[in-house]
Amino acid sequence: MNLAVVGGGVIGLTCALRAADAGWRVTVFDAGVSRRASDVAAGMLGSLGEGHPGEEALLELSAASVRLWPELLRRLDDPDIVAARDSLFVAFTAADMKYLHQLARFVWSSDDEVASRLTEVSATQVRAKEPMLSGRLQGGYQARGEMAVDNRRLLSALRRALADVGVEFIDARVTDLADVRADRILLAAGVDAARLWPGLRIYEAKGEVLRLGRTRWSVAPPRHVIRGRIDNRNVYLVPRGDGVVVGATQYESADPDDRTPQVGGVADLLSDACEIMPGLRTYDLTEVGAGLRPMTDDGVPVVERVDDRVVVAAGHGRNGILLAPHTADRVAELLTS
Ligand code: GLY
Repeated sequence: MNLAVVGGGVIGLTCALRAADAGWRVTVFDAGVSRRASDVAAGMLGSLGEGHPGEEALLELSAASVRLWPELLRRLDDPDIVAARDSLFVAFTAADMKYLHQLARFVWSSDDEVASRLTEVSATQVRAKEPMLSGRLQGGYQARGEMAVDNRRLLSALRRALADVGVEFIDARVTDLADVRADRILLAAGVDAARLWPGLRIYEAKGEVLRLGRTRWSVAPPRHVIRGRIDNRNVYLVPRGDGVVVGATQYESADPDDRTPQVGGVADLLSDACEIMPGLRTYDLTEVGAGLRPMTDDGVPVVERVDDRVVVAAGHGRNGILLAPHTADRVAELLTS
């Protein structure tokens, strides 16, 4: 049976690999890097840090996907995909600490395995683990096993693995599913999915992400993912071998195709990142990017069969990379059901 995957981001590629491994003849239609949310990402597998009261279903889904990640990493066989193994959540003011306590209470109300991964740590303990963080921080939490991957290295490894098993790539943006010749179609086109299949409950949220490069004058990047709550804003620092990815803003844009970084978002990210880790001031600002997250109201993606030929996997919002292996398993079931 032939499967056409519409979408060359992390969801499309991970599902394509799972299907090819199960015996499907797969073709991937890739609209290119400029439309790909997983390229404008930091790669956090942030099931706990992305936990929000009211999103219990997403927390459960995320925890299930975290458990599938080691198998995907073994399949891709590139140890350098892993960018960090643990996360620290840090806060600056009493109000920021209150925000983290609220997040912790939400995580602790989940099952024991998930809850046990999050522990409170003092400011001294945080700075013992990451001495280059600001002396101003008040305290925080350690999230054990809350990893990050290098999103771009991941995408390259997926493409390589797909090429190795004979998957064909067509560099073209699909504008009408009726033009796609295949026994089955997987629609994994992020925000474009709702344009190709009207009625899907997916909308876009814009966000800026920065890349900073270490110079010969700079201190080393942190070893953990650092999620900061600072003056009521969220910022994260995710290490790369040679620098740090800083993210991310999130807001609705008037233009649904707007991928131009906005001054205010970039200014906030830079000032918050340097507040958390003052040594970042000597890094190079190597990239300023903006992308569109495909959102749903409850954070749970749309992974369902919509007719005899078409399965949808889209709307992964802030968590596409995290949820990719779980989505791939679910899609594999839907394709044969
Ligand atoms: N997962 C983090 C973000 O979307 O910014």
